Amino acid sequence: MPTYLTELQCCECGHTAPADSRANLCSECGASYLVQYDLAAAAKTLSKSDWAARPPRLWRYRELLPIVDPANELDLGEGGTPTTPLPTLAKSLGVEELWLKDEGLNPTGTFKDRGAATGAARAAELGETDLAMPTAGNAGSAWAAYCARAGLMLHVAMPADTPKVNMAECLAYGAQLYLVNGLISDAGALIGAACAAHGWYDVSTLKEPYRVEGKKTMGIEIAEQFDYQLPDVILYPTGGGVGLIGLWKAFNELEALGWIGSERPRLVSVQAEGCAPVVRAFEAGADSCEFFDNAATGAAGLRVPRPFADRLVMRILKETEGTAVAVSEQQIAAAVAELAACEGHYICPEGAAAVAALPLLRESGWLRSSDRVVILNTGTALKYVDAIDLTGVPVLDPGSALAPQA
Ligand SMILES: Cc1ncc(COP(=O)(O)O)c(C=O)c1O
Ligand SMILES: [Zn+2]
Repeated sequence: MPTYLTELQCCECGHTAPADSRANLCSECGASYLVQYDLAAAAKTLSKSDWAARPPRLWRYRELLPIVDPANELDLGEGGTPTTPLPTLAKSLGVEELWLKDEGLNPTGTFKDRGAATGAARAAELGETDLAMPTAGNAGSAWAAYCARAGLMLHVAMPADTPKVNMAECLAYGAQLYLVNGLISDAGALIGAACAAHGWYDVSTLKEPYRVEGKKTMGIEIAEQFDYQLPDVILYPTGGGVGLIGLWKAFNELEALGWIGSERPRLVSVQAEGCAPVVRAFEAGADSCEFFDNAATGAAGLRVPRPFADRLVMRILKETEGTAVAVSEQQIAAAVAELAACEGHYICPEGAAAVAALPLLRESGWLRSSDRVVILNTGTALKYVDAIDLTGVPVLDPGSALAPQA
């Protein structure tokens, strides 16, 4: 068997559960389970070159992924995204090395594909037929695609003001789509009740253990791409925090394999001012988040008023000596424009939030000029075409003169 999967373990109380049947939350305390592997055994047989010899995709890390039979892996070409330098921005910020890991190149245009690949594959392997989830948009698109490939039915609920492209994708992939007049938290309550009523598998963020495993591969890839010399800082636009948890878990597992030491990148949670529960909690020195009332931001993926695994997210920020920063809608829009015009990367507003946090962290002195910094761009701007403003773009009749614009 390719995987070293052993069991599930609660991230709060340590309670363990078998990994061979449906699992949602810890039966003792209600927190999230995380997937465990026999890393001591893996350390004896697995080598970096085993991974390096395979195609540069998510499933190259199958020993540390939760699929027992490789025939159940769902491969739409996810993972293996490039990490490329941003020289112009690095210069203007005065930092030595600045890199963009571009998750916009995944099959449905965001990093959500990674979690959907492992989550849907494992659900199918365990014999599930109907999955259900609330989404801010992109996770719904990703899970709809991977469920289509796996032959699973996905019931997905999203706020009615979610970008239309997400709705289009869910419909195209054959998911059952529900639009909710409310936030993702309202959609989550509806899905929870529907799962109880109909027996569907609730695959909400951190309410099933296998999505984090796919997200974890971003951390493994960063390690590989930097030849196992981890960067100093990674900025991550945070909604539910799955990516942050995935990065942290990846580095812990690589350390257990003996492939990296105990040093960690300082992880930065970036949020929008209009929905910043993690930033508020971090600034207050709290170990959990309060519900963020009237959450509002155009960065749809960041509109999560209270992350489900808030305690773990807060622990990770402290443990890695990281921080949390909120940016305004104007700063996000300016960062989208700047990165496109100066570096040729047209990135999603969530990723742009991380870019916008950089000058704030430089001004405060938190970010040092000697730091090697990675920005996790979680998706492509092309998922957000609804929001494009064409004011001022000339519309010409055929045959009229085309004058240069000021
Ligand atoms: C593009 C994008 N970036 C970031 C996030 C936040 O991800 P997480 O909930 O894992 O923190 C989302 C979530 O919907 C997203 O779609
Ligand atoms: Zn527990």
